[in-house]
Amino acid sequence: MKYHEEIMHRRTFAIISHPDAGKTTLTEKFLLFGGAIQVAGAVKSNKIKKSATSDFMEIERQRGISVATSVMSFEYQNILINLLDTPGHKDFAEDTFRTLTAVDSVILVVDSVNGVEEQTRRLMEVCRMRDTPVIVFINKMDRDGKNRFDLLEEIEKELNISLHPMTWPINSGKDFKGVYNLYDKNIRLFTANTKADEEDTLAISDIHDPVLDTRLGATDAALLREDVELVDGVNGALNVADYLAAKVSPVFFGSAINNFGVKEMLDTFIRIAPPPQSRETSTRQVNVEEEKLSGFIFKIHANLDPKHRDRIAFFRVCSGKFERNKYFHHVRLDKDVRFSNPYSFMARDKSIIQDAYAGDVVGLFDTGNFKIGDTLTEGENFFFTGIPSFSPEIFKEVINKDPMKTKQLEKGLLQLTDEGVAQLFTQFGGTKKIVGCVGELQFEVIQYRLLHEYGASVEFRALPFYKACWLTSTDSQKLEDFGKFKQTNTGEDKDGNMVYLAQSEWFLNTEITNNPDIKFHFSSEIH
Ligand code: G4P
Repeated sequence: MKYHEEIMHRRTFAIISHPDAGKTTLTEKFLLFGGAIQVAGAVKSNKIKKSATSDFMEIERQRGISVATSVMSFEYQNILINLLDTPGHKDFAEDTFRTLTAVDSVILVVDSVNGVEEQTRRLMEVCRMRDTPVIVFINKMDRDGKNRFDLLEEIEKELNISLHPMTWPINSGKDFKGVYNLYDKNIRLFTANTKADEEDTLAISDIHDPVLDTRLGATDAALLREDVELVDGVNGALNVADYLAAKVSPVFFGSAINNFGVKEMLDTFIRIAPPPQSRETSTRQVNVEEEKLSGFIFKIHANLDPKHRDRIAFFRVCSGKFERNKYFHHVRLDKDVRFSNPYSFMARDKSIIQDAYAGDVVGLFDTGNFKIGDTLTEGENFFFTGIPSFSPEIFKEVINKDPMKTKQLEKGLLQLTDEGVAQLFTQFGGTKKIVGCVGELQFEVIQYRLLHEYGASVEFRALPFYKACWLTSTDSQKLEDFGKFKQTNTGEDKDGNMVYLAQSEWFLNTEITNNPDIKFHFSSEIH
């Protein structure tokens, strides 16, 4: 049962957080534990400090050279861990949402000072929608944070999840003394800048051990005993089945920058996190143990080297075995394709691989054959469901400033929208091209990339729309009439699907009421 062993050997997950909570720092500590890097500071933060395009482009350029940072694979305790990176900036949240379709579990980092923040909320909504198992890491315990009980209550309430503490903090800020491990029933004493292999563990026979009073001081020891009694009394042992069913989230306290509390979490992660899971498709559920290959593209990354227009498509293997140079079926294009240089992302280096199994992410060189959501199989026709396509919130008309470059512009727009950076609409009754994005920053990125990668110069003119809805009806005449009457507000997307662009909620509701035979879809699923 080779496949079975390969699958059980893997864990594919993402670390998510509101920017600045400590995702990059925690990622780095994981890589240190996994031996994938040797020194701290090796992982570049991908956060965009000033919301500036130049900042974004710089990051993208770095990543273009080393796309390996998008997926980091390493071994820890004989388990192959695939850690998928997610951009922190909110204008790129859609990229993160799509990446979440390719993982089997997540670790959510919460800043103990700031508590639940905007992105934390949105990311957790996506996890809940997909019933993704979540482990919570409460970071920055070395800073004066919120009261631990208040913080847990805030997270439970705001994120609508049920928490199960696995460790318990002894104070916070400058009085932070360490964490009590509710599972192993020992104490890890806090020291700043712990190395991966150094631990200061205080073995105790039980929570009433007098050594606690000597090491922590009588007041803190008494407080800890009180807390632990309360927490243990309420929670008992973690029910792993509830965690796997996304009903309960284990929570750890620590300080990523000091590498404190990280190992406890990683060890628990290895013990309880789910191996690659079976997935739903348009026709049936694909069992992860099936021997035939299936998988989907969840991310496309431009290689920003202007000499090469090629891109890297990130393919998540969902079943079977991916093999170099073997023909697989590209379902949307209905053709067989093979890959001579598929990449894996071990130890942060791109290296050509011969094969990959369920749970792995393979980087495929692409010259324009892939779109997000595309499926590869060994002949069967289906596609994986639940891959979100976003609903744009800002709409702008594309003004071509250099008519000599119209062809390049069209090609550029099509390719960039294939990457999922934006959506492209063509207005009915004209050729007006409209780009829809979730954030302003994306327009700047598109403008920059069109110029630098395609030589096309554009400007954007703001349009007064607030939402795009996809229209369907069993009565095609009704759709046609609607399009005729509402020419300025209707158009089609890249795939020829009819879209209504609403100016306001009031207009949208009026149209929904006036057109009972037409369905307005806000559904953000590509398939
Ligand atoms: P992100 O990827 O979630 O955006 O966060 P990142 O890891 O970059 O961390 C954000 C800031 O928080 C960084 O400081 C980092 O050093 C700090 N930080 C991370 N973990 C801890 C912790 O446990 N305790 C404390 N006190 N700080 C922590 P920065 O000054 O914004 O970045 P840098 O200039 O040091 O890179």
